[in-house]
Amino acid sequence: MAYSDKVLDHYDNPRNVGSLDKKSKDVGTGIVGAPECGDVMKLQIQVEGDTIVDAKFKTFGCGSAIASSSLATEWIKGKKVDEALAISNTAIVEELALPPVKIHCSVLAEDAIKAAIKDYKEKNASAAPAEAQKA
Ligand code: FES
Ligand code: FES
Repeated sequence: MAYSDKVLDHYDNPRNVGSLDKKSKDVGTGIVGAPECGDVMKLQIQVEGDTIVDAKFKTFGCGSAIASSSLATEWIKGKKVDEALAISNTAIVEELALPPVKIHCSVLAEDAIKAAIKDYKEKNASAAPAEAQKA
């Protein structure tokens, strides 16, 4: 099954590859793995107020996973956190015209967005006296 032009475009010219400072409290980091194939995706967001002002990803995986995460970072930049939470993998599947065997690659992107937001929210949930983890 050939990759669609949009997948190839993101694969050849991925947007927003890189890392943000994981220790910053304005940054949320999501790292997820696909049980289907072992591919791993890291997606990070930088939040100001309730808006995602920057997003970066690193994906160790197939072309569809790279394209899905590239597209995901494009979509979430400039969005409110809650709007980004509403992005579903089916929208990514449609945009990239992913075939059925590649649907889990888009799930990875949805999960990575959600994991990054969860991390951000947990970091900022309470100004609890004990700054718990450093991992
Ligand atoms: Fe081959 Fe993901 S299964 S790269
Ligand atoms: Fe497993 Fe794409 S993420 S094949």
